Amino acid sequence: MQGLVKKLPQVLAHFGISGTIGAQYQGPLITEVEFELSKGSKFSAVEKQIKDIARELGVSGIRVAEIPNSTYISFELPNEKLQSVPFLPLTEQTEFTDSQYDLPICVGVNMRGVPVMKNLAKMPHLLVAGTTGSGKSVGLNSFILSLIKKKTPQELKFVLIDPKRIEFSMYNNQAYMLRPVITEMSIASACLAELVAEMNARYAKFEKSMARNIGEYNAKNAIKMPYIVCVIDEFADLMLFDKTVEKQVQILAQKARASGIHLLIATQRPSVDVITGSVKANLPTRLSYKVASATDSMTILNTTGAENLLGRGDSLLLEENGTLTRILGAYVSDDDIMQTLEPYRCEIKEPQPTNVVVVSGDNNNITVQQTIKQEQQKPSIWARIADWWNRIGRRRQNQIINWILTLIFAAFQAKNASSKARSTTATMRKITSATKKTSSRRR
Ligand SMILES: Nc1ncnc2c1ncn2[C@@H]1O[C@H](COP(=O)(O)OP(=O)(O)O)[C@@H](O)[C@H]1O
Ligand SMILES: [Mg+2]
Repeated sequence: MQGLVKKLPQVLAHFGISGTIGAQYQGPLITEVEFELSKGSKFSAVEKQIKDIARELGVSGIRVAEIPNSTYISFELPNEKLQSVPFLPLTEQTEFTDSQYDLPICVGVNMRGVPVMKNLAKMPHLLVAGTTGSGKSVGLNSFILSLIKKKTPQELKFVLIDPKRIEFSMYNNQAYMLRPVITEMSIASACLAELVAEMNARYAKFEKSMARNIGEYNAKNAIKMPYIVCVIDEFADLMLFDKTVEKQVQILAQKARASGIHLLIATQRPSVDVITGSVKANLPTRLSYKVASATDSMTILNTTGAENLLGRGDSLLLEENGTLTRILGAYVSDDDIMQTLEPYRCEIKEPQPTNVVVVSGDNNNITVQQTIKQEQQKPSIWARIADWWNRIGRRRQNQIINWILTLIFAAFQAKNASSKARSTTATMRKITSATKKTSSRRR
């Protein structure tokens, strides 16, 4: 690493950039090297040529950033050995234990290894993006566990939506769950509608109590309202299934802040067909893990850089006020989840029927319970096959019929050939035995 830092001014000089090296800080992932540009050298020139600078230094994934209110810029050079930061020990540090936020989440550690705590209630929602394997699900788990560590099941409830069916299964039967983990997409859309209805009901109650938000309401009333955090992993999968979820997410993102309902949404693709402009406008706080391209980084963070992150929880947090912080997410293992959840095991059933109306795309509005029932009374395997058959289209149907006919024909031919062979051998046997008999009679 020292060699790399020494080499940096020489390499920069090749690109027409001069200046002096300042302080250095080694964190778990990168070494931050402060650099004061000499007069006339431009930051934009460094930013533009950063890929070539990295190549000449012989490392990938270098990031350069301006340091606010300083004459220095910082180069972030990846360490030879990337360390990970385990989640549970972080929760014993004072930054975590002393935090007094309404909904405290530990996003990870900054590049100098100090825990970064944020208040989800103020964000008021969080949009998370990153390619597959970049650390989104691990991140979501660490946020959920941070909240569980700081709040009781009476103060906080979760709605977890998991199209992949594997990420959140451990949270089933937890006192913190408002309902079992949702894995069926049609139920997901229905439940989001239910959350919108809950939000409206809460605002009606606030009005009666002359409270402006959940904090004021809880201060005035003996029966407290819990915060509700709705976590959606792989939002793109949900959007592909049913575009109507966008409307509900948009309403929640726009209006749910004061009602104590907050969203944590993760998506592999931050493109406009998944996160539309209106949803994005209402999700100003965003966390980007490593993304595939500079365009994706622009889409999520309004700036490039997330494409150069190192993966494994390395991320950039964009806050509502526009500040961008590089954070290494804490690593949560399955054991960490089990250990944290153990005291809160209890049976969670589907909630009582409500008459919340789900706006379905085809003008046939139905209630949440109807959707769940429909989902539970899913058609038999034959009905599913028939459904599939109708969906695949004429061309594939003809192709499949042709394959089946060819197979039947081939089987028929094979059978014919074998029975012919059998009858020929039988005839041959008859002829030979007849010949034997005649010859023996002659003798
Ligand atoms: N914060 C982290 N620290 C160390 N390793 C991590 C971290 N986050 C993710 N990983 C590694 O990356 C793998 C994929 O992470 P995951 O969260 O499942 O990715 P995604 O949900 O984005 O597809 C994990 O199994 C783990 O090995
Ligand atoms: Mg995932």
